[in-house]
This record gives sequence, C-alpha cells and structure tokens, in this order.
Amino acid sequence: MLQQIQETADYIQKRTNQFQPIAGIILGTGLGGLVKEIDTKFIIPYEEIPHFPVSTVEGHSGKLIFGYISNKPVMVLQGRFHYYEGYTMNQVVFPVRVMKKLGISTLFLSNASGGVNPAFEVGDVMILNDHINMLPSNPLLGPNIPELGPRFPDMSEPYDRELIARAKAISQKLGYKVHEGVYISVSGPCFETPAEYRLMRVVGGDAVGMSTVPEVIAARHMGLPCFAVSVITDLGVEGKIVEVTHEDVIKAASKAEVKMTAIFKDLLASL
Ligand code: HPA
Repeated sequence: MLQQIQETADYIQKRTNQFQPIAGIILGTGLGGLVKEIDTKFIIPYEEIPHFPVSTVEGHSGKLIFGYISNKPVMVLQGRFHYYEGYTMNQVVFPVRVMKKLGISTLFLSNASGGVNPAFEVGDVMILNDHINMLPSNPLLGPNIPELGPRFPDMSEPYDRELIARAKAISQKLGYKVHEGVYISVSGPCFETPAEYRLMRVVGGDAVGMSTVPEVIAARHMGLPCFAVSVITDLGVEGKIVEVTHEDVIKAASKAEVKMTAIFKDLLASL
C-alpha cells in the first residue's frame, strides 16, 4: 500500500512538474461546477494514473485537475470512488492517501444527499459537523499502516471547527441560508425506504448519502483537517418522500452548486 501511494505520487509529481497543492478537493455528484473556477495547469485522466481506480457512475467523469482557485494551489478530484461500485474501502480512499503524500494540508469534500431533517428543503446546503458511519466497513480495517497514522485514530473532531465557523461566516456574508448537521453514510446503491429514512432521523442524522465518510476517516487517520458540504437533493421526510432517480439527484445538485462553489472559493481564499 505505502509503495503504491509513493509510486502514484511520484508519477503525478512528474506529470505536474512538481506542482505543490495546499488543498485537495473531492467533488460529488452533480457538483462539478467548481471546476470552471480553476485556473487549470494540469489535467490527468484517472485511467492514466498508476494504481488509481477508474470511476464508473454516470455524472462522475474521472479526472485529476491541478491549478489555482482563489490564487491557492489545489488539486481537484472530479469523480470519486464509491463503495457501492464494488471497490474495496482501500480503493475508495486511495486518492486521499495520495493527496496527503503530495502535501495537501486540508481536504475539502462535497456530496449529494437525502435530507431527513424536517427543516430541510431540496437544494439546501448542509455543512457537515459530524457523521455516523453506517457503511458495512471501514477503510482502516486490517493491519494498521503506522506510517499513515495510529491504530485507533481519534474522531472527536471529524470536521474542522475553525473551517466550519469560517464557512458559516462566509455563507452569511453571501446571504445564503446554510444548515449544519450530521451526515450518515450508507452503502446504497438503493435509495432509502420510508422506514429507513425514519431510522436515519431517529439515530441522529440530518442527511443520508453514499460517500464522504470513508475519505474523511482516511484523512483523519493521517491527521488531515476536513471540511465537507452536502447538497440536499431529495427529502426523506414523512409526507415529502417521492420517487427519486439519479437524474433527479444530479438536477437538484446542479441547482445548489452555485452556493457550494461560492463557499468553497471564499474558504480557499482564507487558507
Ligand atoms: N439517500 C442516499 N443517498 C443519496 C440520497 C438519498 O436520499 N440522495 C442523494 N444521495
């Protein structure tokens, strides 16, 4: 694993002329709009990167983009790897480990999710302040890799409090209503039944989705601060549950993406 991370990082450094990103960004379903804001220097399709999985889902085009957002050097993963695609947890988090190796000091993530908090509406933005891992696995299972982090990593602050505070101030300044809440990760690929949505609410969730938590676990294992935003693309709230398709999710996400993009841009400027 360590050798693969090193080989991939070496390859990327060669391809990018030793470009030095300070932040890594993983973009979720329908949230590729931030890409237009990048002063792009290098693009590498996933299939050209040694040891990189190749993404399979519609709405996820797999590219690693290097450039500047708000004058800050960043690397952006356009298209992530999901557990439901059949990847192992180690494959799902491999890019995060490579990004850390390349020297990033903050990880930004976005995703689309179903809102289970009755105060939420489709198109709302939720800043993650905590999560519950309901995936049937964990990327740190198996022998620990001490070079990456401890056997029993602390998870008392999965999402960086300082970045959350700054993002809230930015949202207020921009006049956006944003929520803060707990994201529950599930395997999917089915969306939830009404009873499952109810369960998510009962156990303390505000939104439910199929990503982000593995990457955050791997990042926190390595001591990397994380900031994540979820776009509410459908509602798992009694009386508001309707049929939902992947196309609906992409459509709803692209409506809210303007807000998400603006928050990320200003937050990056503050680094
Ligand atoms: N459930 C799980 N994942 C999702 C949802 C949902 O309702 N919406 C977008 N991703």
